[in-house]
Amino acid sequence: MPKPIYQIVAVARNGVIGLNRKLPWRIPEEWDYFISTTSGGVMVMGRVCAEEFGQGMTDRDMLAITHDTDFSLPGFLVGHSLKEALEMAQASPQPGPIWICGGEQIYQETFDISSRLYISFIQREFDGDTYFPEDWRETFPHELSRQDYATAEVPYSVCIYGKEPEKV
Ligand SMILES: NC(=O)c1ccc[n+]([C@@H]2O[C@H](COP(=O)([O-])OP(=O)(O)OC[C@H]3O[C@@H](n4cnc5c(N)ncnc54)[C@H](OP(=O)(O)O)[C@@H]3O)[C@@H](O)[C@H]2O)c1
Repeated sequence: MPKPIYQIVAVARNGVIGLNRKLPWRIPEEWDYFISTTSGGVMVMGRVCAEEFGQGMTDRDMLAITHDTDFSLPGFLVGHSLKEALEMAQASPQPGPIWICGGEQIYQETFDISSRLYISFIQREFDGDTYFPEDWRETFPHELSRQDYATAEVPYSVCIYGKEPEKV
């Protein structure tokens, strides 16, 4: 059985996901949710996101995509195209899903092959230079779960959307 492919992202009210190659916010609880949700799976991300991590983690496989054939990062597997990265991810011994972790172009390019979107709505606007593709609601029309964290310092909601109205 191929591993399921899910996208995971945190998005500000104005669609921003990144600024100057970093997250525009610091919300430790939301970051912890991201790390625990993706544990045991395979994280696939662009080279800029991988460099933001700096090094891989041992409870999962982490895969960076780059055109640079000399690129390496401790604890990361490296793929040189999306296709190659996804083949490597499917071959991983990790039991969990493949998690598409961005950035912008990689989200857009994997809309058609991802069955779920794990999206955290950060309930504020932020300055940014990287955005989540606006057309995601057409791709993932069904809200499968929602948890609001209204009293957090920066309020946010953690949601799962799907292509089909499945139980999660
Ligand atoms: N809020 C969130 O949940 C979230 C999630 C993800 C990212 N972000 C933010 O978004 C920003 C990073 O995202 P980004 O979109 O700028 O960059 P990115 O996707 O992390 O990295 C872009 C790079 O990935 C490589 N790449 C992408 N597609 C490729 C392909 N098909 N084949 C080969 N290589 C490919 C290229 O690397 P080379 O130039 O080396 O060839 C490209 O320059 C940061 O600010 C980060 O914090 C936020």
